[in-house]
Amino acid sequence: MSVTIKSQREIEYMREAGRLLAIVHNELEKFVKPGVSTKDIDRLGEKIIRGFGCIPSFLNYQGYPASICVSVNEEIVHGIPSDNRILKDGDIVSLDAGLIYKGYHSDAARTHGVGNISDEAQRLIDVTRQCFFDGIQQAKAGNHLNDICKAIGNCATKAGYGIVKELVGHGIGQELHEAPQIPNYCMNRRGIKLESCMTLAIEPMITAGGADVKWLPDRWTVVTKDKSLAAHYENTVLITDGQPEILTLLSEESR
Ligand code: MF3
Ligand code: CO
Repeated sequence: MSVTIKSQREIEYMREAGRLLAIVHNELEKFVKPGVSTKDIDRLGEKIIRGFGCIPSFLNYQGYPASICVSVNEEIVHGIPSDNRILKDGDIVSLDAGLIYKGYHSDAARTHGVGNISDEAQRLIDVTRQCFFDGIQQAKAGNHLNDICKAIGNCATKAGYGIVKELVGHGIGQELHEAPQIPNYCMNRRGIKLESCMTLAIEPMITAGGADVKWLPDRWTVVTKDKSLAAHYENTVLITDGQPEILTLLSEESR
């Protein structure tokens, strides 16, 4: 599949998909606290998404059994929500959510601290977010894909962190995962030339220790092999001739 260029009508749908998902994340952030189960977060997320008349895109995606991926501490991504997993003070939790509005996808992830977290954990969360912003600084028409990948990778490496290589960002639109794949590290090629009206999900996944990962027996949850903390930050982004538009942040929170 080649990279899709969206029409103005499609971009309007993607904008609305993104705006609604930003609201979902803001509501979930307020809900995260010690004592809440990861399934409680999933239930609330699904309820808000359906309340908007949208479809939770992750639910049943390749058999994934929930609407929100909830990944705690050494879990990097695709944690499966459970009534038995209760968040406790000092945890960090990554929430990854996606929805479909009028046939168009948005996809975004945030990592939050639960109660009081260590300075190291906060730094990991902050750097992971910064990796995204360093990346999208390069996300403009005329640049190449690797400009984004390299900027993300440099940010993580400079901070002394590991970069998850097995999972990547992606194009997004009528499908959750479209071309191109977007690694979070420098590739040995320039990659595609970025063009106005491409929509990309850019998603650094960063570890405080080693970058090696393994899959848990549930066949979804990806964890760090060395059990070091991991963070994830993702937005759906529209490429323009100038500054990229971050579709999954509300305008007042774009930086
Ligand atoms: N945000 C994830 C991604 O970009 C999607 C989660 S996979 C699912 O690939 F199965 F949970 F949907
Ligand atoms: Co994604």
